[in-house]
Amino acid sequence: MRLDDIETICEIEREAFPTPWSAGAFQNELTNNHFAHYLVMELDGEIAGYAGMWLIMDEAHITNIAVRAPYRGRKLGERLLVQMQSAAMFLGAERMTLEVRVSNVVAQRLYAKLGFIPAGLRKGYYTDNGEDAIIMWAHLRRIAEEGERETNADAT
Ligand SMILES: CC(C)(COP(=O)(O)OP(=O)(O)OC[C@H]1O[C@@H](n2cnc3c(N)ncnc32)[C@H](O)[C@@H]1OP(=O)(O)O)[C@@H](O)C(=O)NCCC(=O)NCCS
Repeated sequence: MRLDDIETICEIEREAFPTPWSAGAFQNELTNNHFAHYLVMELDGEIAGYAGMWLIMDEAHITNIAVRAPYRGRKLGERLLVQMQSAAMFLGAERMTLEVRVSNVVAQRLYAKLGFIPAGLRKGYYTDNGEDAIIMWAHLRRIAEEGERETNADAT
């Protein structure tokens, strides 16, 4: 993600979240936060989605992930998150965590598919409606090893 992507990112953010981050928040992430890593996904030269994480020691914390509404359901969210997992591992992370609304079943299914397991609740975490967040964790190396085993099994 670059500074000149922020305008489009904010459009997607408003489309995707009830309490969208401001342009200033993204600018701060890209220029001041040394823990932050943000990716955009482009399709036909347009931004189709983005994701971000904070990488602290060996833990990666996903801050946001979104796919533009017309592009959802085409495995782009999955590709974005797989890319974040690979990048996090490359940068030394062992584990990845995130929070997800109790009502966001689509995102929960994506996370479960990519190895995330529920580990607890943050009560009233979301300020717009007081909804609880499910905390999920994934063991990145274990997921990568399982992926390799599946690839080897397919090849034999
Ligand atoms: C969550 C989000 C990023 C998923 O991206 P996507 O590109 O639509 O999802 P994909 O096409 O990659 O689907 C991957 C998996 O997600 C789940 N999923 C996707 N769409 C789904 C739907 N309509 N119903 C149920 N599960 C769904 C499935 O597990 C799917 O795998 P499968 O097709 O093999 O079953 C996207 O819906 C989005 O941007 N939502 C709004 C923002 C948001 O909620 N972000 C997460 C905040 S925690």
